[in-house]
Amino acid sequence: MTTTVLRTDFERSVAAYWNTNQQDPVNLRLGEVDDLYHHHYGVGPYDPTVLEGPADTRDQRIIAELHRLESAQADLLLDHLGPLGGDDLVLDGGSGRGGTSIMANQRFGCEVDGVSISEYQVGFANDQAARRGVGDRVRFHFRNMLDTQLPPGSRQAVWTNETTMYVDLGDLYREFTRVLRFGGRYVCITGCANDVTGLRSKSVSKINEHYTCDIHPRSAYFTALADNGLVPINVVDLTAATIPYWQLRTMSPVATGIEEAFLTAYQEGSFHYLLIAADRI
Ligand SMILES: C[S@@+](CC[C@H](N)C(=O)[O-])C[C@H]1O[C@@H](n2cnc3c(N)ncnc32)[C@H](O)[C@@H]1O
Repeated sequence: MTTTVLRTDFERSVAAYWNTNQQDPVNLRLGEVDDLYHHHYGVGPYDPTVLEGPADTRDQRIIAELHRLESAQADLLLDHLGPLGGDDLVLDGGSGRGGTSIMANQRFGCEVDGVSISEYQVGFANDQAARRGVGDRVRFHFRNMLDTQLPPGSRQAVWTNETTMYVDLGDLYREFTRVLRFGGRYVCITGCANDVTGLRSKSVSKINEHYTCDIHPRSAYFTALADNGLVPINVVDLTAATIPYWQLRTMSPVATGIEEAFLTAYQEGSFHYLLIAADRI
């Protein structure tokens, strides 16, 4: 099983990263706020009053606020995914601990299949779905999103929430076009390098090194989408909206040391945080 899901040394090292970073407090302590576990970043202004008030509860206020911004990011993705109903099937490509999948089911009632190359995450996410009583509607699989094994044309919507930097975009969108039905929606939130400022900046290279990923240039998304019959309907530059999240994270007890690289990359303009919504034709 392992050999077919993880086909390359790169995929094995990405899977090892997500299998072994399971106790990272930046993910666990935020998830504990309301039992929705995310492995992505946040959008929107933070409430500055969380920095005021009693010192002994300051850390917890910041953590709750970071979590609120991460859930706001997932809500924004879902805003672009619908309309969906209870009969629709959707795919979460690179589903992490399952937070966005659970939110999609809560909002639309749709059936969700999430795939991740981390066996640990798949087990964690399935436990979450079972605990919420939606294990029959929200399922997580130890599978590669380049080979989801889902039936052709079975999906009304597919999303990737900060996962595309781990794969070849042409291979990914070929698979998504296969599983999406005509007129189905694909939504992506991702960081991407700015072609206008040139090849990868130092700060973007630091992010790649930190997460064992390979951030694509902005142009690569639109080329790969067009090559695979995915036609953009909305492109939202979320760069300015995500900067407050990173500023708050630098002041938090769960900072990991990568915050400055993100802030530098966004502020110098070598990196964007983008939402792309596209329809399959
Ligand atoms: C930054 S996390 C995002 C998790 C989730 N989308 C979220 O928003 O919480 C990246 C995820 O991509 C997954 N991933 C990376 N490469 C993958 C691949 N080829 N197939 C499936 N999942 C993959 C990792 O296992 C991890 O769950």
